[in-house]
Amino acid sequence: MPKRYRDITGDGGSNVAGQVSAQAERLKARMAGVRHAIAVMSGKGGVGKSAITANLAAYFAREGWRVGVVDADINGPSIAKMLGVRGHSLSLDAGGVFPALGPLDIRVISMDLFLKEDQTPVVWDGPQAETFVWRGTMEMHTLREFLADVHWGELDILLIDLPPGTDRLATLNDLLPDLHGSVVVTIPSAVSQLIVSKSITMARDLLRTPVIGLVENMTAYVCPTCGTTHPLFAPTPQAETLTGVPLLGRVPFDPRMALAGDKGVPFILEDAASPAAQALAQVGEGVLNFVNSGSPVS
Ligand SMILES: Nc1ncnc2c1ncn2[C@@H]1O[C@H](COP(=O)(O)OP(=O)(O)OP(=O)(O)O)[C@@H](O)[C@H]1O
Ligand SMILES: [Mg+2]
Repeated sequence: MPKRYRDITGDGGSNVAGQVSAQAERLKARMAGVRHAIAVMSGKGGVGKSAITANLAAYFAREGWRVGVVDADINGPSIAKMLGVRGHSLSLDAGGVFPALGPLDIRVISMDLFLKEDQTPVVWDGPQAETFVWRGTMEMHTLREFLADVHWGELDILLIDLPPGTDRLATLNDLLPDLHGSVVVTIPSAVSQLIVSKSITMARDLLRTPVIGLVENMTAYVCPTCGTTHPLFAPTPQAETLTGVPLLGRVPFDPRMALAGDKGVPFILEDAASPAAQALAQVGEGVLNFVNSGSPVS
């Protein structure tokens, strides 16, 4: 006679508890080799989180740090493209997957590296009625594997590029209680600042993640011919006065930065002297000061 769910005592021999604790141990052991873990987040989409992450990774690699990047945007991955490793094949052994190697040997893992075709979307196949919950669970599972089952080796810094919103920050907090802090990206519009200030409150007060500072992206347009700067948005109150979070830098819009991202070369490495690259380096310096001394200001 078949057994019903209620006839099964304990875990029915599946040793679920044992598997979960083994997974937690694996994650802890893997992350023991990481000196600093920093998330890049924003309540708002399309403000430049991934571009800032890719350039921060290049900043630290240029400083001689061993850098890893996790693309935590499972459904809209873009880090593999921005760090030029899209289409690289991954190798693995019994201990896990080896990350792809980007510029200056930045170690990268992204869902993009597991998708065969350019057009292939990430589809979570699950029970229809509970698809939302199922999808969240699968995303958390994937993120845990990205952290625990990748041969990160010894890293000075692991950057985590989050999707828009704060949902994944909560997940990350569960997986990585030692997260050092987050960098928050915004653009100078009242709509963005409103959403971003909510996500800062969520990160700082509810999830108790230190917010290192704010990056104001796409602040102005630098004319490629005459070099003059024109604001891109109407004047808004200073983001840092609204949020009480230190400003790490203001990065102007430079069309060559978008092109560099499309080519898979961080702009900071392509034209280090440009105003956008200098602003990105200033952001990097603020994060570096924070991890060294607990404050973005040296
Ligand atoms: N300062 C900038 N100058 C020029 N282009 C930029 C700048 N910042 C970002 N971009 C470009 O704008 C586009 C959107 O940026 P990005 O993908 O980094 O945003 P995102 O916040 O990660 O988006 P999502 O919410 O979808 O994850 C990209 O093509 C990127 O290269
Ligand atoms: Mg992104």
